[in-house]
Amino acid sequence: MNLENKVAIVTGGNQGIGYATAISLAAAGANVVIAARNTKINWEAVNNINGLYPGKARAEEMDVTSKESVKAAFERVYLEFGHLDILVNNAGICNLSQPFENIDEDKWDQVMDVNLKGILHCVKAAIPIFKSQNNGKIINVASLAGEVGGIATSADYVASKAAVIGLTKSLARYLGQYNVNVNAVAPGFIATEMTKEMSIPMNVIPLGRIGRPEDVADGIVFLASERASYITGTTLDVNGGVFMK
Ligand SMILES: NC(=O)c1ccc[n+]([C@@H]2O[C@H](COP(=O)([O-])OP(=O)(O)OC[C@H]3O[C@@H](n4cnc5c(N)ncnc54)[C@H](OP(=O)(O)O)[C@@H]3O)[C@@H](O)[C@H]2O)c1
Repeated sequence: MNLENKVAIVTGGNQGIGYATAISLAAAGANVVIAARNTKINWEAVNNINGLYPGKARAEEMDVTSKESVKAAFERVYLEFGHLDILVNNAGICNLSQPFENIDEDKWDQVMDVNLKGILHCVKAAIPIFKSQNNGKIINVASLAGEVGGIATSADYVASKAAVIGLTKSLARYLGQYNVNVNAVAPGFIATEMTKEMSIPMNVIPLGRIGRPEDVADGIVFLASERASYITGTTLDVNGGVFMK
């Protein structure tokens, strides 16, 4: 898949699935913007990518929950490159499984702010650019949890990720007229910081292994490529077979 000269923003691109995605995009030739809050980790990720892959990486300190932070980062990227081709809404936080009545309202709000409203801010910042280009790709990172009700995760996380799937469909309907493809990936159990403390029931995974961040990145790069030009509004499952539609 050739993404030469494309510009991609990956939110939460400094570790885990986002970092693997940044590497895969750079390997396909794209210039990648790693957009997350932790400047130090952002730069470590950028330094690990640059020089090793055809595409270049750069960092943006960005908090997806802040409209101003997102707007400023998108403006800097557009000023530098003059176009934006791919937006990967990957930034996310997770609460582990717990009885519903124990759900904390503040934590509920935090999860919704990052996982759902963060996408609102990023897509709003991208739309004027995509419209003016009559071209663009949006890939939202949802979750298996949003499809099956959560196996190891809390209801707030589940609700946020189910909403991401609905939002993906709504955006696909609206942005199709501007030649913008909007899709989601729904990872299953993937080995990252997020799942470190999670007890993962291996017996529910037909492929018999926990996923690698690269497994998800491959799906994202496919959806970002012209090979997926007639695919929109879908959710690509990358879950080792835990959930089959
Ligand atoms: N791992 C899994 O099994 C799994 C399964 C299904 C879905 N997912 C989804 O996949 C995505 C990536 O997860 P992961 O496992 O790679 O998690 P991770 O290793 O914990 O990484 C999360 C990333 O999100 C960024 N982030 C968090 N809050 C942010 C904010 N307010 N603004 C900008 N960036 C923010 C973090 O960077 P900073 O802290 O520097 O901002 C970090 O780069 C998430 O949406 C997650 O829900 C993961």
